[in-house]
Amino acid sequence: MTLDLFADQDLRQPERHERIGEQSWVLRGFALPRVEQLLPALRQVLRQAPFRQMVTPGGFTMSASLSSCGDWGWTTDRDGYRYSATDPHNGQPWPTMPEVIRQLAVDAAEAAGFADFVPDACLINRYVPGAKMSLHQDRNEHDLTAPVVSVSLGLPAMFLFGGHERADRSLRIPLQHGDVVVWGGVDRLRFHGILPVKDGHHPVLGAQRINFTLRRAGPR
Ligand code: SIN
Ligand code: FE2
Repeated sequence: MTLDLFADQDLRQPERHERIGEQSWVLRGFALPRVEQLLPALRQVLRQAPFRQMVTPGGFTMSASLSSCGDWGWTTDRDGYRYSATDPHNGQPWPTMPEVIRQLAVDAAEAAGFADFVPDACLINRYVPGAKMSLHQDRNEHDLTAPVVSVSLGLPAMFLFGGHERADRSLRIPLQHGDVVVWGGVDRLRFHGILPVKDGHHPVLGAQRINFTLRRAGPR
């Protein structure tokens, strides 16, 4: 991963909060002031739990590569989707969730109206150009009262934010480096996805998009 910490400084915009649902927000640029701390934390997690491509229960290899940190890591294989307390690659617990990532998620949740968010799972997705995430619901979590906090870094992407049925129309929301999306409450189970990431080069992260998805997976 190439690292040019200050390359995006001139592009910094004032924070803007955009409502995309009754209890859903895009917090524009919310993560930007913390990128310099987030990237070393990310690198440390990846040393312990490198990105890997996973297979869906239907036998398809996901185009995004995944890793995790925190008490629970989301995994998929031929046997199904689930949260695991250990990394299936080495049988070890997932890396501890770095404080800078945890605090970012807590603050973003609060800014979106969800006080007292206690995330225990951080899924890390890596998209190279062409990689995507098909429409899905986040529904493997024990506690659906906690929101989903999704942090975008690197290449831009088009986020699809649908309804409660797969066939419902989706909003198309362009996400940039530093944007944070939060959805919860009545919107917690809305379908969402990512269109194939376009070719490009990001000054900080190069030819990739990194997404952190923070959730409460286990019981409180
Ligand atoms: C996800 O829903 O798992 C990822 C969403 C994203 O990459 O923005
Ligand atoms: Fe998701």
